[in-house]
Amino acid sequence: TLPTLAGLGLGYALGAIPFGLIFTRIAGLGDVRAIGSGNIGATNVLRTGRKGLAFATLLGDALKGTAAVLIAAQLGEGPALAAGLGAFLGHLFPVWLGFKGGKGVATLIGLLLAFSPLALLAFAVVWLGLAFAFKYSSLSALAASAVTPVVLWYLGLPAAALLFVILGLLLWWKHTPNIQRLAAGTEGRIGQKG
Ligand code: G3P
Repeated sequence: TLPTLAGLGLGYALGAIPFGLIFTRIAGLGDVRAIGSGNIGATNVLRTGRKGLAFATLLGDALKGTAAVLIAAQLGEGPALAAGLGAFLGHLFPVWLGFKGGKGVATLIGLLLAFSPLALLAFAVVWLGLAFAFKYSSLSALAASAVTPVVLWYLGLPAAALLFVILGLLLWWKHTPNIQRLAAGTEGRIGQKG
């Protein structure tokens, strides 16, 4: 269990780095939590109008999860799974931000890259298809994250499938305001400000 706890801790430490907040501050844009949805993720950074910063946020928040899993995988499968859970929890509940973190989409993508690039491809197809059709970042992520555990299961990765059930539930819960806005027809479209 010590390697598993080490994986969990490493994951949390990396996951808790809020790249969106850091990049927008460095760019002199102030606090990204004061605009749009108030979230620290790439979708909200895009509402500043800075596509490069949004992309950097997506990469940073994703690759911190990838790195955590790949490092912990040196200790075994259990530690790798624990690192994935830790990174996701770190991103959603960072101690530095009073446990008010992001919604988990980018970090889930980075974790999928580490566990199964093929499952990430399926995630991307669902996300892009829905984003192209409806222009809602949240709706695309909600659907893609729901499909992911099924894909992992069919790829013969039951442990990862179970992990992504847990991550998906957390992601959906964090998207409660988005789900309410989607139902009310008031959700912001991709890139739309405010
Ligand atoms: O699913 C994308 C998620 O990040 C939504 O972000 O800022 O629209 O709440 P936001």
